[in-house]
Amino acid sequence: MESRSARLQKIRKLALLLTALSFLILLISAYIRLSGAGLDCSPWPHCYGQLLVGGPYQHSDAARILHRVVASSALLLGFVLVWQCLRPQRIEPAARYATVLLVLMIVLTFVGLWSSDPHRVWTSFFNMLGGAGLVLLSWRTVLAAGIEQAPSSRRRPAALLHAGLGTLALTMALGALIGARYAAIACPFLPGCIDASWPAPAGWSALNPFTRVAVAASMGDDGGVALHLLHRYCAVATLLLLGLGGLRALAQPASRQSAALLMALLLVQVALGVLTVLSGLSLRLAIAHSICAAALLAVGMQVLIRVKTAPA
Ligand code: HEM
Repeated sequence: MESRSARLQKIRKLALLLTALSFLILLISAYIRLSGAGLDCSPWPHCYGQLLVGGPYQHSDAARILHRVVASSALLLGFVLVWQCLRPQRIEPAARYATVLLVLMIVLTFVGLWSSDPHRVWTSFFNMLGGAGLVLLSWRTVLAAGIEQAPSSRRRPAALLHAGLGTLALTMALGALIGARYAAIACPFLPGCIDASWPAPAGWSALNPFTRVAVAASMGDDGGVALHLLHRYCAVATLLLLGLGGLRALAQPASRQSAALLMALLLVQVALGVLTVLSGLSLRLAIAHSICAAALLAVGMQVLIRVKTAPA
């Protein structure tokens, strides 16, 4: 019978491959979503959100086919991974994360069936966050199958990292809503939106993803402005909380390397957000911004695990 360490090695390799495929899925779906919405279209900005009113948009059949092929391969690999984790004996905690990953992939497959209607906000919203969830869970499975140090008997507090990961998730959800509501051009300025520095009362309803949009938000639209402002405030909170949490983690040998990567990703992510706005919504920068957010989430989680399980 195969030894536990040989099985762990196999699980780790499969989960690593799934992490790479998850990034690829995220990249292709960000391209389909953002180019479909009209980033980099011409004549800018009139062409933005044209698909909502039946107008022409940059349609890429090749990207859609590639997305289907990569996502189907990932789903098959997900079944193999869960099987490897469960048979002949269950290997925990990898089995738990691999199972949640497979469930998320199946849910995303069903969400895909509804995503042909661009007016539905929640499908785009869930698609973006679900893609980041795939990266997070496949990377969590890699870590769970790795040769981790035994957890120390005293779990270290990591309040800053917890809070930072919370605001990071919130920032990502708000960013996903900007895209899903076709509100990217509502606020093309920095640091505030035209003369607004706080959402107007009428703008808060834009936080509801279970709705439909008829047309793209125009410049200064209350809902769009609210999403941009809240996204930026949450990004600043993330920069502070995760940045301070990362600085503390830098001091511990067990978490030093991943903390350094976290700090670098954090700076790159904020810079990409700022450059996306300054460039007048460049498609490439917006896609890089989307991918970097998922990497940040995965590495943030890794730092948290390393800090909490570092030997006393
Ligand atoms: C920790 C910092 C940040 C994180 C984690 C983050 C994350 C995200 C995510 C996940 C999206 C959705 C991308 C998609 O639809 O595929 C997004 C969109 C966006 N973000 Fe950020 N963001 C951050 C900071 C910023 C900053 C500082 C700015 C600008 C000042 C910014 C500007 C934007 C814009 C304009 C979009 C809309 C792009 C579009 O959908 O067309 N972000 N962000």
